[in-house]
Amino acid sequence: MSDYRGIVLAGGSGTRLFPVTQAVSKQLVPIYDKPMIYYPLSVLMLAGINEIAIITTPEDQIQFKRLLGTGEQWGVRFEYIVQERPEGLAQAYTLSRNFLDGHPSAMVLGDNIFYGHGLVGLLSQAVSRKSGGTVFGYQVRNPSQYGVVDFGKGGQAKSIIEKPENPASNYAVTGLYFLDGMASELAGKIQPSKRGELEITSLLEEYLNLGKLDVKLMGRGYSWFDTGTHESMIDATNYVRTIQNRQGLQIGCLEEIAYTNGWIDDDLLRQRADLYAKNEYGAYLAQILKG
Ligand code: TTP
Repeated sequence: MSDYRGIVLAGGSGTRLFPVTQAVSKQLVPIYDKPMIYYPLSVLMLAGINEIAIITTPEDQIQFKRLLGTGEQWGVRFEYIVQERPEGLAQAYTLSRNFLDGHPSAMVLGDNIFYGHGLVGLLSQAVSRKSGGTVFGYQVRNPSQYGVVDFGKGGQAKSIIEKPENPASNYAVTGLYFLDGMASELAGKIQPSKRGELEITSLLEEYLNLGKLDVKLMGRGYSWFDTGTHESMIDATNYVRTIQNRQGLQIGCLEEIAYTNGWIDDDLLRQRADLYAKNEYGAYLAQILKG
């Protein structure tokens, strides 16, 4: 079992998706056949993490509880934490201070989807690290919309700049951050940026300055989606639909991951298959039971 604890950051205002997200949290809207939050949650579970904080806005928390419950159906434990206002990604670490209790953590943004051959290996490498942090650089066409990695001459990450006008590379930092037990303390020291947010890039700079941040490249064999716009939502939906229909394998099936990890037994899996008996998802779970 991993010493790492997990965080899914599922607050924010979702203004780019208005009016879709005016009355419902972005992370609850569907990406093909599952609520968006299933996908980032699946990444933490694939990393072997079973103690997970779900950070939401005050008004949306009740809906997340309705969907995800205690987590026992997947052999995990959820703790629900409120972020009063969307004051930045790094705030997640100060809000989770008690929950993390000095443990290293993996934080994933609630609107990020990762998939690809070798992902589990990449994740297990990151959680085997005892101190410092690991983040992932992913090549994108439009780096200015992201935190961008500036690689020095030796190819080592030199700095990470939030939404630069003139990006130093095409590598965006994805919304998946593995940090050691110092994260809450370091996050407590950073100052809000010009746009008034506690930026994750400021926290990552602290780790970089200490020489403790590893920026690993996520190659072209991986898919990374950030589903914060209508276009990217439909892209991600089409991607999930295409892979699932073609291969007959589910992306982000939490019961399957829990079962493979040995966190739930046949009885629990059967209950879940029965719950979804009317659709493909239930048929998939029933198929897993047959082996
Ligand atoms: P963003 O997509 O940058 O912000 P947003 O979700 O508020 O959307 P928009 O820009 O359309 O208004 O946030 C990335 C992820 O982090 C997303 O899952 C929401 C979450 N988030 C928080 O939970 N708290 C925050 O303070 C911020 C800034 C984001």
